[in-house]
Amino acid sequence: MNEKKEVGEKAVEYVKEGMVVGLGTGSTVFYTITKLGKLVQQGLSIKGIPTSKQTEKLAIEVGIPLVSFNEINQIDVAIDGADEVNRDLDLIKGGGGALLREKIIAKAAKTFIVVADSHKNVDKLGSFPLPVEVVPFGFEMTSKYIRELGGSPQLRQNNGIPFRTDNGNYIFDCSFSNITFPGDLERELNLIPGVVDNGLFIAMAKIIITLNKDKEIVIKKRSVG
Ligand code: 5RP
Repeated sequence: MNEKKEVGEKAVEYVKEGMVVGLGTGSTVFYTITKLGKLVQQGLSIKGIPTSKQTEKLAIEVGIPLVSFNEINQIDVAIDGADEVNRDLDLIKGGGGALLREKIIAKAAKTFIVVADSHKNVDKLGSFPLPVEVVPFGFEMTSKYIRELGGSPQLRQNNGIPFRTDNGNYIFDCSFSNITFPGDLERELNLIPGVVDNGLFIAMAKIIITLNKDKEIVIKKRSVG
């Protein structure tokens, strides 16, 4: 069974005629975007707003018309993947390096839906190194301050060259031995000069589409907020 395909395609049920749809980044939401492309070919009228250049390219390939923020007031639904999901429906995201645009789009969406294969479900966030996007200027100092918060930052590299996000920034992948209070850590990291944002998505996801141990689709919903 292809879990990513199962949950990715399930999410299109939340997309209705006329909606503005935030299009996430990664190998799970790939299936959502591809299926939406097929529905558009069959007559569904939607507009997409992509969270990365990679997704922009995919959306154009499958025929989803795109909009930018200067053409819209809000996003109806945003659909994206995650690297970890805990029981409170809080997330670590950014494995693909798109966390900043992903967070901007998730925040602007009336409903933020996460598609996550069963391996993404965790009791506690933090086994997956937390991606932190930083501006290149002074990144050595930024790294020092992240260490003071208990993280072990590793500069993300591609063939020995620092990885650059779509915004021209660097990513530190930060191991934290224990993320007990993810909301506090999200705020503390973002107070460091040089940190643009980090991959903790707290109280943002309204719906998680995932699978249980028996490989059945499970829909988890946030009750408040
Ligand atoms: C990209 C992300 C992705 O949504 C996350 O890494 C999950 O990816 P995948 O669906 O490929 O497992 O946050 O920045």
